[in-house]
Amino acid sequence: MFDCLFQPITINKLIIKNRIIYPALGLCYSQDRTLNERYINFFRERAKGGAGIVTVGPVLFDETGVGVEAPSIADDSAVPVFSRVAEAISNEGAAAWIQLYHAGAYSFSQMMDGRESIAPSSVYSNYSRETPREMSIEDISGIRGKIVRAALRAKEAGFDGIELLGSAGYLISQFLSPLKNYRNDKYGGTPEKRMRFASEIIEDIRTAVGPDYPLTIRMAGNDFVQGSNTDLETPDFARAYEQAGIDGINVTGGWHESKIPQLSAELPSGGFAYLARNIKDAVSVPVAASNRLSDPYAADQVIRDKMADMVSLGRALIADPFWPLKAMSGRENEIRPCISCSQGCTDRLFSGKPVFCLTNARAGFEGSRNISKMDNPARIMVAGAGPAGLEAAIRSAEAGHRVEIYDKNADIGGQLWIAGAPPHKQEMWNLINYYSEMLYKYKIDFFPLTEVDIELIRKKNPDHLFIAQGGEPLIPQIQGVQSSDIVTAWDVLRDDPSLGTDIAIIGGGAVGLETAHFLSVKGTISPETLYFLFKYGAEDVKRLNDLILRGNKKITVFEKMAKAGRDVGKSSRWILMGNLSRHGVEIITSAEVGSVSNGIVRYKKDGSFHEQKFDNIINAAGTVSVCSLEAEARGNGFSCSVIGDSKKTGTIDNAIHDAFLAVSDIRQGQ
Ligand SMILES: Cc1cc2nc3c(=O)[nH]c(=O)nc-3n(C[C@H](O)[C@H](O)[C@H](O)COP(=O)(O)O)c2cc1C
Repeated sequence: MFDCLFQPITINKLIIKNRIIYPALGLCYSQDRTLNERYINFFRERAKGGAGIVTVGPVLFDETGVGVEAPSIADDSAVPVFSRVAEAISNEGAAAWIQLYHAGAYSFSQMMDGRESIAPSSVYSNYSRETPREMSIEDISGIRGKIVRAALRAKEAGFDGIELLGSAGYLISQFLSPLKNYRNDKYGGTPEKRMRFASEIIEDIRTAVGPDYPLTIRMAGNDFVQGSNTDLETPDFARAYEQAGIDGINVTGGWHESKIPQLSAELPSGGFAYLARNIKDAVSVPVAASNRLSDPYAADQVIRDKMADMVSLGRALIADPFWPLKAMSGRENEIRPCISCSQGCTDRLFSGKPVFCLTNARAGFEGSRNISKMDNPARIMVAGAGPAGLEAAIRSAEAGHRVEIYDKNADIGGQLWIAGAPPHKQEMWNLINYYSEMLYKYKIDFFPLTEVDIELIRKKNPDHLFIAQGGEPLIPQIQGVQSSDIVTAWDVLRDDPSLGTDIAIIGGGAVGLETAHFLSVKGTISPETLYFLFKYGAEDVKRLNDLILRGNKKITVFEKMAKAGRDVGKSSRWILMGNLSRHGVEIITSAEVGSVSNGIVRYKKDGSFHEQKFDNIINAAGTVSVCSLEAEARGNGFSCSVIGDSKKTGTIDNAIHDAFLAVSDIRQGQ
């Protein structure tokens, strides 16, 4: 199974045990540019899980160039700690790689003690919202010198290979791009001159580290920014890199400022593998594909079909570092899935906060969050099989406890069913599959259609009870909202009832907007139909565009705050808002809904009163906790923990992490 993934491959003269790369990902685990224990534990775990290459990065080598908080190897004093991480990775059997990073115009002065950022030309950056200083020839040779010294330090520290960051819109990409490079010296003016900076760096490092030392580069397969380089130009860059001395190329998507989603689940699994193939066709060194390869079948297929020689699994290995070992041993169903939500990784990193993972409570806490096996197991009862209850159940079983889990519904999953219903959110359901597999693995009994009450608790007499009853829709203080003809967003997402044409949604938070998205695609064609019609030229492009965007409902969202979607993560909000706008959803903000009756929504906005008639009105005002068991359970002397939405309504990561921590708190034989 997955035999292509587990074939060894040679980079320069180094044999890598399999085709799986953990790529560089900013983690923000220190604020002082040092590589601390948290980083070391994190990378050790990724190596332990079986990846062929584990990349430590991004790593700074210059006091300019800081786009995210990252460890620095700009000084000789950093070598010992970098040696420790390289050793930790090597000891677990992976090749230790380091990614050298300079953000150029994507740097933030506030992270550089007020220093100006530098770039090939002084062009305002939409990303950093700063205008960098144009690099002089001395600046360019200064950077060349610093990156060579950093490379030598990395080699001395014991890294098996070095990767240059030449993608995502950072310094090397800026030199390559006619949008960012207006120079008229030897570093700009023609594609060949724009390539000179990268080629010189590669040649300099190659000379310094010697011919046999692996040196790779990460490149954008297409910048996906209008006016910049596309996949027509990138093969030329790859050829130039190979000629300058590069031993491998990792091909990713486009720039941070691209308007094309690079990480969201909207990008199909393996959706950028075609970019890797485009580069593979141009060079003879190994090429890796990146982005959204979290499914082992898709990852193996990319190599089998010769789209690429290797695959990068970024967020997938944050979610489950043991993905490679599980896939290799035929336990792929036990892989804790990355659901591409980017809530714990991208959203956190770009707010300057340490990265965690929604599905994996241990990611970034490998040194501190551990479930130890108990000698004296307890009998655990879990009331509620949503994400919190499921996590509590499997982690308790992992600790050796005997576990039973109950739910009033017929199936496990709770709110995950609702969260996974809107377009492109279906990977949420992979989490349900994962938990289902783990219940089976740990022989945890699930009791469906069973509402836990004090009688049942008394009968079962558990040593510990987890109360994970979840939440329910909040009924807001709006006259008429309790009437039977008002449906909740949960009803719509769970049951997909047949609704009329004119729809009002009350509440423009994440759930209201996702419900609007869910309904806005009704009446549009499926991706498969689009493919069919496009392939055979059955409809022209303008008509196809219409067919994928124009649904058969008119949706209006009423939000009382001045901005809708405030609880949607930064990295997903622009995508969701863009989709709602494409599908013609109207969002009325600062709209205070006073009453609803007979399909009429009456609301106040900007001091005046309005009313509008709809076929259906949907309540998406929020969620409230359900926790009916605690008082009675405690009153009867039962030890219990309230977890997830039962404790406090929040996002799925709150539920999963809360459950994990609650399990760690259970004492032996309690
Ligand atoms: C939080 C975060 C930080 C990242 N930082 C870097 C980086 O510093 N250098 C880099 O080359 N790629 C970076 N990436 C891109 C990842 O290496 C990877 O290409 C991307 O996540 C897509 O692959 P995936 O779908 O397997 O996660 C980052 C991605 C995320 C989500």
